[in-house]
Amino acid sequence: VASHDHLRHMDSMAQLPFGAGKISHHNAVILGEAPASEENDLVFPNAEFSKKALVSSPEKYMEMYKRSVVDPAGFWSEFASEFYWKKKWVREVFSENLDVRKGNVKIEWFKGGKTNICHNALDRNVEAGSGDKVALYWEGNEPGQDGKLTYKELLKNVCQLANYLRHVGVRKGDAVVIYLPMLMQLPIAMLACARIGAVHSVVFAGFSSDSLVQRIEDCKPKVVITCNAVCRGSKVIHLKDIVDNALADSTKNVDSVDLCLTYENKSALSREETKWTKGRDFWWQDVVSVFPTECQVEWVDAEDPLFILYTSGSTAKPKGVLHTTGGYMVYSAITFRYAFDYKPLDIYWCTADCGWITGHSYVAYGPLLNGATILIYEGVPNYPDAGRSWDIVDKYKVTIFYTAPTLIRSLMREGDQYVTRYSRKSLRVLGTVGEPINPTAWRWFFNVVGNAQCPISDTWWQTETGGFMITPLPGAWPQKPGSATFPFFGVQPVIVDEKGNEIIGECSGYLCIKTSWPGALRTLHGDHERYETTYFKPFPGYYFSGDGCSRDKDGYYWITGRVDDVINVSGHRIGTAEVESALISHPKCAEAAVVAIEHEVKGQGIYAFVTLVKGVPFNEELRKELISTVRNQIGSFAAPEKIHWAPELPKTRSGKIMRRILRKIASKQLDDIGDTSALADPSVIPQLIALCDH
Ligand code: PRX
Repeated sequence: VASHDHLRHMDSMAQLPFGAGKISHHNAVILGEAPASEENDLVFPNAEFSKKALVSSPEKYMEMYKRSVVDPAGFWSEFASEFYWKKKWVREVFSENLDVRKGNVKIEWFKGGKTNICHNALDRNVEAGSGDKVALYWEGNEPGQDGKLTYKELLKNVCQLANYLRHVGVRKGDAVVIYLPMLMQLPIAMLACARIGAVHSVVFAGFSSDSLVQRIEDCKPKVVITCNAVCRGSKVIHLKDIVDNALADSTKNVDSVDLCLTYENKSALSREETKWTKGRDFWWQDVVSVFPTECQVEWVDAEDPLFILYTSGSTAKPKGVLHTTGGYMVYSAITFRYAFDYKPLDIYWCTADCGWITGHSYVAYGPLLNGATILIYEGVPNYPDAGRSWDIVDKYKVTIFYTAPTLIRSLMREGDQYVTRYSRKSLRVLGTVGEPINPTAWRWFFNVVGNAQCPISDTWWQTETGGFMITPLPGAWPQKPGSATFPFFGVQPVIVDEKGNEIIGECSGYLCIKTSWPGALRTLHGDHERYETTYFKPFPGYYFSGDGCSRDKDGYYWITGRVDDVINVSGHRIGTAEVESALISHPKCAEAAVVAIEHEVKGQGIYAFVTLVKGVPFNEELRKELISTVRNQIGSFAAPEKIHWAPELPKTRSGKIMRRILRKIASKQLDDIGDTSALADPSVIPQLIALCDH
């Protein structure tokens, strides 16, 4: 199954950075001093760190990597054996067909095995003697507000909720929608679903009620779990009102949700002030605590669904990415361990929300499967001031800190003093995810936050991949600021040209993956055809990531960002079609075209061109209304930076909008508009330019 061509290729690429003496040491940076030319400078791991690292050298990595692609079955079986399986998988550990030309795309790992991810994350760790170890620290929005649960206590909480869910009729395979902020109840709810074989679909609590409707109508949950409200900085957000509206508006399957379990988040809102629908709504604190603290596990097939997580694509309808149990379990656990060089005494903090894939794989499942102590934080990084993250790091003695480039950039702007007034001496490994990290932000993270002591794992992956795909392994090799470095074990990246031909050596192109890995998505919920069309048809024989990528002369991978209709705002994926469809739903908006612009903090921002219904004037009031329409239909994080009134949009004679031109106008590259000869009416362009600062 393994591609030996690929291996030879990796080997020849790898020889450069891994082979002694081949790196130009004259420009190497030890401890991250700012170099003259950023991109090719290397940051070497600290020798002390490497000595103790799980993968201590490039040679060790190559040895493991080779084995992982030559004998994936053997490689992954060994890791899988660390976990408890009620029934072992058959020897042919995985089967796959990634080639649409050969029939349906089908990926299976550990087929025939029976297990349970909740059992492996909790019971197994308790049985192994970690029952009194802290599993979960919780830091509230207000400094001084906190809580913790040991593995034993977490297990009890999960069991009570699992029993409750069973009691109200949730069965294996049923969906449960979870709309919760970063309270302990969020991972508890995920684990409780997993325990009874229910399929959770966590919806990020920043999504609007309309987005929630879309997701509820698609996965048809038996139960929705939420809380009455949450404090985020100085704001109080009434989540239950959003759920109420969503349930009232979910028409396609209105019968299915007759139960809304609501956690009373007293510090945000009292139950007396919470709107209530009798017979449908129940307080978590009242109904769950009466259930026993032990709950029999539902053993599920390795390929039974674990969760659905919606993500944006190129149409207005989000894609329900479906992950199954066995492969995801092994993959999230092992990637976590190696990419962060996890050790049992670590205190791990990932700032992502469980509403995104990062929160699934690297707040909840991956770390807990390793018996790690995790920290979750309810609030925002700039409350009460921009030093809060480092205050939390010192308070809990965080050793591994994993975050997003957007957060790094926003804190960098506030000034070093917010960082340096805290010790941060517990920190050992740093990580980033969600978008390419610019070298300047990388260096600030490395030098200022990490005191030039901590390697940074710049992890490239996606909702679809379930876990890390291209990532440094701390201590194993020199890093280049802004490069995600090399593939994780078992991952075979290829860069292809427009025609789908693999390009070898130093190059740029489309990033694809050859052969499957255990954490790969298995389908899109209810739409296997869209799954094949999106991921496997663009370049037959490969999984297509949707990202552009280049590989440098040393074999390092550099992700350049999305090449499809997806905009990455602060690491959140937003489809241009989603925003356009929200804008067009406004009665005064006739047409909309959305493009990405560069944004200093968010990475990318949304720039919307709108054509109005005939006779409607564009003014400040309408601009605000259009923005709030997007907030209401998707969520605040998708609000456009700019609404540009376009009396006409630039279109080809066949009516296709020329986004290439819109991108130039949005980024104010007005001298470089490019060829406009294909336009039906070129006079549209000067008109649009004249309205730039309208
Ligand atoms: O464009 C890539 C970018 O985020 C996309 C995946 O988004 P999502 O499914 O929401 O998952 C985010 C968290 C895994 C990718 O297609 N991306 C993610 N990590 C990186 C990145 N781009 C560059 N470098 C990264 N480390």
